[in-house]
Amino acid sequence: MNDQILTLKKERQELPAYKARNQIISHIQRLSTAIVIGETGSGKTTQVPQYLYEAGLHQNGVIAITQPRRVAAMSISQRVAAERQCNVGELVGYSVRFDDMTSGCTKIKYMTDGMLLREAILDPLLKRYSIVILDEAHERTIHTDILFGVVKAAQKKRNALNRKDVSLKIIIMSATMDVDHFSSYFSSCPVLYLEGRQFPVKLYYTSEHQSDYSFSALVTVFQIHREVPPDEDILVFLTGQEEIESIVKQIRDISKDLIGEAPPMCVYPLYAAQAPIAQLRVFTPAPKGTRKVIVATNVAETSLTIKGIKHVIDSGMVKAKLFNPSIGLDLLKVVRVSKAQAIQRTGRAGRESPGTCYRLYTEQEFESFQPNTLPEIQRCNLSGVVLQMLAMGISDVVNFDFMDKPTTQSIINALDQLNFLGAVEKKEKIQLTSIGKQMAAYPLDPRLAKVILVAKDFNCLDEILSIVSLLSVDSLVFNPQRQHEEALAARKKFESPEGDFMTYLNILRAYKAGNSNKKWCRENFVNSKNAQMALDVRKQLRTICIDQSFQINSSVRDSSAAVRKCLVAGFFMNAAELEKDGSYITLSTRKVCAIHPSSSLFNCKPSYVIYRELVQTTKCYMRDVCVVDPDWLYDAAPNYFKKK
Ligand SMILES: Nc1ncnc2c1ncn2[C@@H]1O[C@H](COP(=O)(O)OP(=O)(O)OP(=O)(O)O)[C@@H](O)[C@H]1O
Ligand SMILES: [Mg+2]
Repeated sequence: MNDQILTLKKERQELPAYKARNQIISHIQRLSTAIVIGETGSGKTTQVPQYLYEAGLHQNGVIAITQPRRVAAMSISQRVAAERQCNVGELVGYSVRFDDMTSGCTKIKYMTDGMLLREAILDPLLKRYSIVILDEAHERTIHTDILFGVVKAAQKKRNALNRKDVSLKIIIMSATMDVDHFSSYFSSCPVLYLEGRQFPVKLYYTSEHQSDYSFSALVTVFQIHREVPPDEDILVFLTGQEEIESIVKQIRDISKDLIGEAPPMCVYPLYAAQAPIAQLRVFTPAPKGTRKVIVATNVAETSLTIKGIKHVIDSGMVKAKLFNPSIGLDLLKVVRVSKAQAIQRTGRAGRESPGTCYRLYTEQEFESFQPNTLPEIQRCNLSGVVLQMLAMGISDVVNFDFMDKPTTQSIINALDQLNFLGAVEKKEKIQLTSIGKQMAAYPLDPRLAKVILVAKDFNCLDEILSIVSLLSVDSLVFNPQRQHEEALAARKKFESPEGDFMTYLNILRAYKAGNSNKKWCRENFVNSKNAQMALDVRKQLRTICIDQSFQINSSVRDSSAAVRKCLVAGFFMNAAELEKDGSYITLSTRKVCAIHPSSSLFNCKPSYVIYRELVQTTKCYMRDVCVVDPDWLYDAAPNYFKKK
């Protein structure tokens, strides 16, 4: 055996989970449902599936382990594949939206909760799986919450057949969860506690409240940087892409000024919208003598082990989606984390050796945090997930076996939204229309799926596939602070007076038209990774269109109006009109808003626009904006506008 294999074997045997290996196996052999709790880093995610595999519990099907986030599913499968000495995609694989790395021989499959839910549309009994492990259950993402009910129902049906070879085992795992609540939902199933933690993490709180948490984070990074050896890496938790990119830049600038006085640094941002390659870059070790600093959103909060991270800095803030059912709006807002989130963040240190966590809030403030995060299902727009539930044949959504029920109002809102999109109809019961069924085939927000379906009738599927793909990846362009003006000037030629969607389309077209070389991307401040990723996504969406027998057509004349009409067919609920005072007001809820400064329409005042989303910062901004004709709005959804 070579050294690396021996080291990995030894590392596995030193994990707290290893001591409980036989107990875990014998428990799970006997039980059909179990909850497994163990400290962060104790070996739940990487080891438990392997133990079950080693004990042969996979004989009747694959072991699935769900993760709320793509980056966790991908990086953990890499680690487990290394531990089992195979390539990802062989015995150990992963499946995330737009990327499936599994094969016929995959037995341990890490996947996002969203992917498993999608599979349940075609196979509600999840027959391919012998064991489903719902990991990081405390995160209570919308998809995990629906999966709770779906796996419970699948297990009941499979067990009713009374054959051992078709039964389904369910395991719920987390380091921080409200055990009683989970156990009572899963028919008082037993709870297995994995004793011990791997390495201690020393906690520091601030002595007083920090009014500017990102500035405090910056100061703390450099305090640590001055004091500890360069091989001790730092992970900082902040809230969102723009804030993170700005801090990353500041850290880079300051560290350049410190050359000679302090070790060099390599600094990486990490957030959900990045292309997977960019996300996985944070796992690359820094060169010897260089310190790695990662500035992340809560995508790095659970599950991940990033080699080298010894210090965690927690701002105590998170950007959360908050849905206001009375006005039917999803808003992103920066709020305090829960205690469970703070504990998870701390747990990103102390995984290979003892660590430290700097909490940028006082201990008293920590005590005032909510114990757990409010389930996403109780604070988000449900239209996507309701569409999926209907596609799975769950017609009585209100009476679904939810662990925590969303409000009836938010289910009604979702059904209303789907109704306006033409996806549902009420006969004896609520069901999908043929359009709704087609929409459910796309791993997309229902509005975007609708845009695709309409595009074939407007002869512009070619353009729309590009736009929808672009909206599924991170920003196509980048604007370095120092060269902001230069970036805008370079891209002026792509700018469309009709707004951001059309501008993006122009850029992607230029990229595709043979300009996809690095030099061109640099000169035009275009992010080539994201452009490439958009083209990959496009290919996959195109396959679904072809499966549905659509022609990928493009209208030669005036495609702009056709394209924008299609966008209106999905986004008519996100429309705003110009007021006399120059502000905008949304048509749906009469909320005052403005065009986001990043939009190509920032200084323009079109009378009517649609937008992709509203973001609340200092004021309420519309992001990704497109000029429309008010008649198109009415044509797209006469019932909707009649009602208003
Ligand atoms: N990519 C990696 N590189 C180095 N060590 C790793 C890696 N992944 C896991 N480990 C080691 O395995 C341990 C267990 O990781 P695992 O993800 O199974 O823990 P966990 O109990 O699921 O933690 P959490 O509750 O934080 O998700 C880590 O603490 C670390 O020591
Ligand atoms: Mg884990």
